[in-house]
Amino acid sequence: MNSTRRNHRVVVTKRGGPEVLQLIEEDLPQPATSEVRVKVLAAGVSAYDLMARSFWFPGDPSPPFTPGEDVVGMVDALGHGVSTFAIGDRVAAWTFGDGGGYSEYTCIHADRLVRVPADLDPAEAVAVVVNYLTAHLHVHQTAEAHTGERVLIHGAAGGLGSALLQVGRLAGLEMYGTASGHNHDFVAGLGATSIDYRNEDFVARVMELTHDHGVDVVFDTVGGMRQLWRSYRCLSPRGRLVPMGSTATKQVGAKSIPLGLLTIGALKLIPDHKRIGLTPNMMKYPRSHMDWYRDTLTELLDLASCGKIEPTVRHHIPLAEAASAHDLIERSAHTGKVVLV
Ligand SMILES: NC(=O)c1ccc[n+]([C@@H]2O[C@H](COP(=O)([O-])OP(=O)(O)OC[C@H]3O[C@@H](n4cnc5c(N)ncnc54)[C@H](OP(=O)(O)O)[C@@H]3O)[C@@H](O)[C@H]2O)c1
Repeated sequence: MNSTRRNHRVVVTKRGGPEVLQLIEEDLPQPATSEVRVKVLAAGVSAYDLMARSFWFPGDPSPPFTPGEDVVGMVDALGHGVSTFAIGDRVAAWTFGDGGGYSEYTCIHADRLVRVPADLDPAEAVAVVVNYLTAHLHVHQTAEAHTGERVLIHGAAGGLGSALLQVGRLAGLEMYGTASGHNHDFVAGLGATSIDYRNEDFVARVMELTHDHGVDVVFDTVGGMRQLWRSYRCLSPRGRLVPMGSTATKQVGAKSIPLGLLTIGALKLIPDHKRIGLTPNMMKYPRSHMDWYRDTLTELLDLASCGKIEPTVRHHIPLAEAASAHDLIERSAHTGKVVLV
């Protein structure tokens, strides 16, 4: 039966714009020992995929490669030694920097797979994987945010930002979120006060909203020198800044990453009681904390299944049109998670 089935997969052929994504046809991949072949039902598209496609940064894969960090699918074949899953099981996985999600079939180590509740839509489930695990780790461990604390979430309408809002709401946080005006209803619907970063000075607005006290935590998904300084200024005297992204590369290019790192170094030297959260490399952290990864992902998928979190997926795009998914994110014309189906 395998001989009649073929695999289709999207490849970044060289660094460049969305046009460098090409669909190829090939033989079905065969699972190695301890691997499972997964028939992909939904694959997440992330800002990281766009960065790896556009420019090189240490740790990024070299073309040709297939992006796709979060995958939900059905077990299709078992490699030698796999006894924990059966053909037909619905599973989710983070590929931990190996990519591969933009495919019809992909092989994944069985240790990375977590069962998906049967009633959960694959696109919603895939939106949980990277963004909600990242949000959960940074809310509960990096920031140690607790009920009643005030937090500012940048990029609140994006995939990661909307996950931070939902994890934050469950934790009982008082939330403010920066977003473009057309996303304000969405951000408010997730329980935050919206701030229009395009037309307002977000530092002044945060100070006004908090009666000059500032917020206890800033989750900064934007990065870059100016942004991080301004986020720091939003903090209360014992506040914590959690740098966790680099959306600013879309506006000012790759240089915003080293400039952001220098800024973080400089902010740490300021002799006050504010703190910069130490954010682990999320491509490495789950590999070295596999129990945390599997337990937390299982918990988050269960929360999604019973409606306590509602991953936002407004864009379901066919695999063959991956380039238009990238274009959508590049233009910031999306809300929530973009998913290839
Ligand atoms: N593993 C990790 O540590 C991890 C995991 C996930 C994401 N990330 C990083 O986090 C960042 C965001 O990822 P994502 O997937 O959420 O991206 P996304 O879905 O593209 O969302 C980014 C959002 O940022 C907003 N935005 C753009 N410029 C902004 C600015 N100057 N101030 C405030 N908001 C701004 C846009 O909102 P509007 O349309 O409202 O303007 C957009 O919705 C990326 O750098 C990504 O690499 C890291």
